[in-house]
Amino acid sequence: MRMIDVTDSTWAKLLALRDGLSSVESGGDPAMRVYAPIAGAKGPFVLAQVGQSLDGRIATPTGDARDVSGSDGLAHLHRCRALVDAVIVGVTTVTSDDPRLSVRMVHGPDPVRVVIDCHGVLTGKERLFHDDGAPVIVFQSWAAPTDTLANAEVIRLDDTNGLSPGAILTALAELGLRRVLVEGGARTIARFVDAGHVDRLHVTVSPIIIGSGPNGISLAPIDRLSDAKRPVTRVYSLGSDILFDCRLR
Ligand SMILES: NC(=O)c1ccc[n+]([C@@H]2O[C@H](COP(=O)([O-])OP(=O)(O)OC[C@H]3O[C@@H](n4cnc5c(N)ncnc54)[C@H](OP(=O)(O)O)[C@@H]3O)[C@@H](O)[C@H]2O)c1
Repeated sequence: MRMIDVTDSTWAKLLALRDGLSSVESGGDPAMRVYAPIAGAKGPFVLAQVGQSLDGRIATPTGDARDVSGSDGLAHLHRCRALVDAVIVGVTTVTSDDPRLSVRMVHGPDPVRVVIDCHGVLTGKERLFHDDGAPVIVFQSWAAPTDTLANAEVIRLDDTNGLSPGAILTALAELGLRRVLVEGGARTIARFVDAGHVDRLHVTVSPIIIGSGPNGISLAPIDRLSDAKRPVTRVYSLGSDILFDCRLR
């Protein structure tokens, strides 16, 4: 299994690629193979990433997910954040973790933060509305309470068994946000995968056994394994965690 080692010079190349200052460079470096498709994406590009335990959990039953990934898995997540225009999370991730969704473990820009809060559950007191970080966009249905959330742009969409992932991506693209990381939780990622909008799925596995709690991605049920998705996948060592880099489209 090949190791991902992101040197300062490789990271500088990736940031330049992200900013359109250089062209796509492929080749044998595992770091470029994993990150260049994200940094160099021109059209709409959706990366979903989930960090899970050996037993496929993403949190404890009480919602504690802070240390599911090891330090190198977390650095990987921060690299992915730095290479995209926007990061999307579901409302339960915000109410459970109160995350900042910023880039702290590597040098790089913070993505715009996007929360899917269909029914208007957020109070406006959550940290991302008050940390002077990157802009925040909240997607709600037309039926959600109309209280305005301070320091956030609220975009309303039709609720057709939830908010359409395609409509969310279109609205973001209209704002110039075309490279998107769907960071979780599992239900939010599942909606994007089921709708066929995820280009790459990164599953990082950390050597921890949680034993109970929410699973990684759960998709619409199938009867036969022959109907399972079998994406072209490359496997890398990040150090503390293993990365499955799956090409879904
Ligand atoms: N280990 C990791 O990588 C990781 C990453 C992030 C979060 N987490 C953990 O995961 C847990 C939360 O995950 P989760 O799956 O329960 O929640 P989640 O994905 O954060 O949020 C789920 C909520 O958002 C709604 N939602 C998502 N997409 C929607 C859409 N397109 N339209 C309408 N509603 C939509 C869901 O509605 P429906 O139920 O109707 O779909 C549900 O109410 C927390 O404990 C968090 O700490 C772990």
